[in-house]
Amino acid sequence: MTTQQRLVETLKNKGALPPEWHDTVASVDRGLFIPNVIEEADFTTDPESWLQAVYSDAPVVTQVNDGASTPEGAFRLFTSSSSMPSIMLEMLGLLDVREGHRVLEIGTGTGYNAAWLSHRLGESNVTSVEVDAAVLSTAAGNLKRAGFHPMTILGNGRDGHHRGAPYDRIICTCTMRDVPRAWLDQCPNGRIVTPWGSSFFSGSYATLDVVDGKAQGSFSGYPAFMWDRTQRAGAGRTTDIYHQEEGEKSSTDIAPQNVIQDDPAFFTSLSVTDAWYRWCDSDDDGEATLWFFSDDRKSWATVEYAPDAEAYEVEQYGPRALWDEVRTAFLGWHELGKPERSRFGLSVDGDGQRVWLDNPHNVVGRQ
Ligand SMILES: C[S@@+](CC[C@H](N)C(=O)[O-])C[C@H]1O[C@@H](n2cnc3c(N)ncnc32)[C@H](O)[C@@H]1O
Repeated sequence: MTTQQRLVETLKNKGALPPEWHDTVASVDRGLFIPNVIEEADFTTDPESWLQAVYSDAPVVTQVNDGASTPEGAFRLFTSSSSMPSIMLEMLGLLDVREGHRVLEIGTGTGYNAAWLSHRLGESNVTSVEVDAAVLSTAAGNLKRAGFHPMTILGNGRDGHHRGAPYDRIICTCTMRDVPRAWLDQCPNGRIVTPWGSSFFSGSYATLDVVDGKAQGSFSGYPAFMWDRTQRAGAGRTTDIYHQEEGEKSSTDIAPQNVIQDDPAFFTSLSVTDAWYRWCDSDDDGEATLWFFSDDRKSWATVEYAPDAEAYEVEQYGPRALWDEVRTAFLGWHELGKPERSRFGLSVDGDGQRVWLDNPHNVVGRQ
């Protein structure tokens, strides 16, 4: 069975299909939203693989490198996709969509999520903004083929779409570093759900309730969405950034794997906002290197992990001492008593964005 029904069964078996979305997921064929030829594969000669990709609970990447032609061997940054259906449902669950709601979606992508919303709420209640003209044009065609005509807008989703406001809900399907002021203006009493974070750790949903234009909420989940194109994190292959220059050497007694666990990485991401890491295992000996890179590619650092070691070699290169920055944040997290991410919250209002611990008066990060 490689049909929409298979996807429905898969989601049901995972316990990922809430009853209120059952009819929508069963009715809107994902196959109408996934092209036969995508950057990763040409399915025209292999229809069975296309069916497998479309009707599985898996993301399908539909664009890399913003649609620019990508030479063989070049780094491929995923820039548009049909998200994993169970993740779409998880987000829609956080959004708490009810009949009659007016919803603004940021990141139309293939149009599949806009089609779900249109089926559930009626197309006149759905507006979707996409920054990429080619992606939007394809999505509008997909939606039409599926029989839906929500408002689709070309633009930067950070500006929302004021002509359709006020909205009861805003759902963003790309990762934001902050919640734009325009969203609060356009959804002054309602709920906003967005993947949120900084370059160091972007795997959180922020779910915010907005009352009279002031938002407050919490962090959850482990989403892996593409970045908002207007505020991307650094990315690339290690060899694109590291050019064999020697850095400053030192050592640390902090086991490198400890700093990239979710809770400390979340905390570190509040202060180290423009650097990212990559864990690289060596072949078989259990050794590994933890790399840090600044988004601007001018600085890097490494910490060498070896099993049973009591100290780990550190090397830091460039204008920033990235390991020192991460270490300071990690020790700060320890001083706070190693709080889990679930104890942090987010407030957004006219004064900007503040992250707090346990209560809104205990601010630990701001933008
Ligand atoms: C994961 S895809 C969206 C999936 C989509 N909701 C679906 O159902 O197919 C993320 C999309 O966000 C778009 N995007 C990124 N930054 C944006 C921005 N600032 N404003 C609007 N769209 C943006 C990307 O071009 C991409 O198409």
